[in-house]
Amino acid sequence: MAEAPFGLLAELTHRCPLRCGYCSNPLELVRRRDELDTGQWFSVFDQARALGVLQVHLSGGEPLGRKDLPELVGHAAGLGCYVNLVTSGLGLTEERLADLVSRGVDHVQLSVQDADRAGADRIAGVRAHDHKLVAADLVTAIGVPLTVNVVLHRRNLDNVAGLIALAERMGAQRLELANTQYYGWALRNRAALLPTAEQLAAANPVVAAAQDRLRGTMEIVYVIADYHEAHPKPCMHGWGARQLTVAPDGKVLPCPAATVIADLEVDNVRDKALADIWHDSRSFNAYRGTDWMRDPCRGCARREVDFGGCRCQAFQLTEDAANTDPVCSLSPDRGTVDLILAAETRPVVEPALVMRQADR
Ligand code: SF4
Ligand code: FES
Repeated sequence: MAEAPFGLLAELTHRCPLRCGYCSNPLELVRRRDELDTGQWFSVFDQARALGVLQVHLSGGEPLGRKDLPELVGHAAGLGCYVNLVTSGLGLTEERLADLVSRGVDHVQLSVQDADRAGADRIAGVRAHDHKLVAADLVTAIGVPLTVNVVLHRRNLDNVAGLIALAERMGAQRLELANTQYYGWALRNRAALLPTAEQLAAANPVVAAAQDRLRGTMEIVYVIADYHEAHPKPCMHGWGARQLTVAPDGKVLPCPAATVIADLEVDNVRDKALADIWHDSRSFNAYRGTDWMRDPCRGCARREVDFGGCRCQAFQLTEDAANTDPVCSLSPDRGTVDLILAAETRPVVEPALVMRQADR
């Protein structure tokens, strides 16, 4: 029997005031009318807690877009869960934040698009940057820990020093500098987002120096640009191992991007108990552990280190999720990634960023 999950990513809605082209939400966004209602989310939280979940990440889209967010926070906190609000900051007022914190928000994760207003608003597709500065002030003033999250790509990677300085000014305890992962809208925009090897070579020592300088003050988590690496990321710390995602329409996913795997049979909390899905469903058991692995992963010393990489990436690049992640230098498909890097990091004509679809 699988061990209990530690965290629940509750994607309350796909609606979002921002239109970032690096978004990992699916191209086909869930519509408002198909979202779980308040009572259904209460039931998800009850079942997740009974299953062993201790951390609830309220995410989206923009969770502030849900009018029932205060009730949802109160319910999750009332079960004893640590509640993390993952937000763009747009729509966060002093009153709203005070209400959410009084009901049990323990931590706020705020997204930032770039180091300066012009660049950030260009990436967000709307005027957002100034709202984020205000949101950060509100969060630190009320005394809740703040994580600043930045998705890095070709259009902001050169500003990594400025991004670190901005997070310091915002009073963040933690900064996540996460190179773009190519799912959903980000995959659609990959040719406009993939950084060059030179950009990464320049940014990496800047991040390492800041990690040293800020140790004990602001933790900096750096998520690698996996296409440029010789080994894949240990995606989700293994499939169905630690966390589950519930999408806005109730689909229960082993990882947030799992709907990209076209042949994965996905269950829904409207039809089945969460515990049954976690323990017994085909989707969660498909790539759990190591028994599903083929060569070269099967006999590889790193199979418990990176779990064969990312199933979604394997599917997207090889059309079979059971293949070794083609980022791996041992994969027979590594050539696919090298061709993408050669073609897309230096396009002859710089492609326009396709902005994420507006709310429906
Ligand atoms: Fe990881 Fe598989 Fe590559 Fe080994 S062969 S390093 S387990 S992805
Ligand atoms: Fe789905 Fe990596 S994003 S397994």
